[in-house]
Amino acid sequence: MIKIAPSIMCADFLNLGKDIKDLQDCGSYLFHIDVMDGNFVPNFSLNQDVVRTIKTIAKIPIEVHMMVENPEKYVESFAEAGASYIGFHLEASKSPIRTLKRIKELGLKAGIAINPATSEATIKYLLEYLDYIVVMTVEPGFAGQKFIPSVLQKIRVIKNMIKDANRQIEIIVDGNIDVINGKKCVKAGADILVGGTSSVFKKGQTIEKSFNAFIQTLENELNTSWNNISSKILDKSISF
Ligand code: DX5
Ligand code: ZN
Repeated sequence: MIKIAPSIMCADFLNLGKDIKDLQDCGSYLFHIDVMDGNFVPNFSLNQDVVRTIKTIAKIPIEVHMMVENPEKYVESFAEAGASYIGFHLEASKSPIRTLKRIKELGLKAGIAINPATSEATIKYLLEYLDYIVVMTVEPGFAGQKFIPSVLQKIRVIKNMIKDANRQIEIIVDGNIDVINGKKCVKAGADILVGGTSSVFKKGQTIEKSFNAFIQTLENELNTSWNNISSKILDKSISF
């Protein structure tokens, strides 16, 4: 099952309630809420009031992606507003373990986000505190940017780190996740795809049309890819 987390900053804010309902009806896994402070990233976006409002009709969890300096200052207020997942940038935190522990104390799922240039080595000592990792596939701060392919190898390495540590940690990929990039990320080990302007919120299309087209095309692509591999195994053109 491909898990989609629509990026609400890409929604139609003149019809947010309808977008939320449509996204849920299409089978979204999480609502991805981008929070920006104009400091860690040169932009502003959503806040606790948006989380609180969405929470009144949400039937699926709200995952907050904090692109802010000193994220530890905002954990309680987003938890109180109704977040179920809180992830913050390792690059913005002086004491990530303390903040991850605080998020879990509040009964939420705790995550770390890392930028494209940040090595996977930086999370080695955090695995025991993590429920999920947001691997940025673009530089954070804006929707509609271009996927950075070098991140694919990082996803593979992190997936192996999680397996070697025998941990239940989900990998979320975030930024320009269209069908092609989504397929590569899933094959590299991603569990949850953030759906933005490249997939779920396509200009001139309803959410239902964009969402279903994305999922169906991606599933076909992945099944085809898997069938190719399994047929090569069957006719022994791939030997282990
Ligand atoms: C960017 C945000 C992403 C973004 C995704 O900083 O973290 O969630 O909104 O939008 P697309 O998929 O259009 O890159
Ligand atoms: Zn995001």
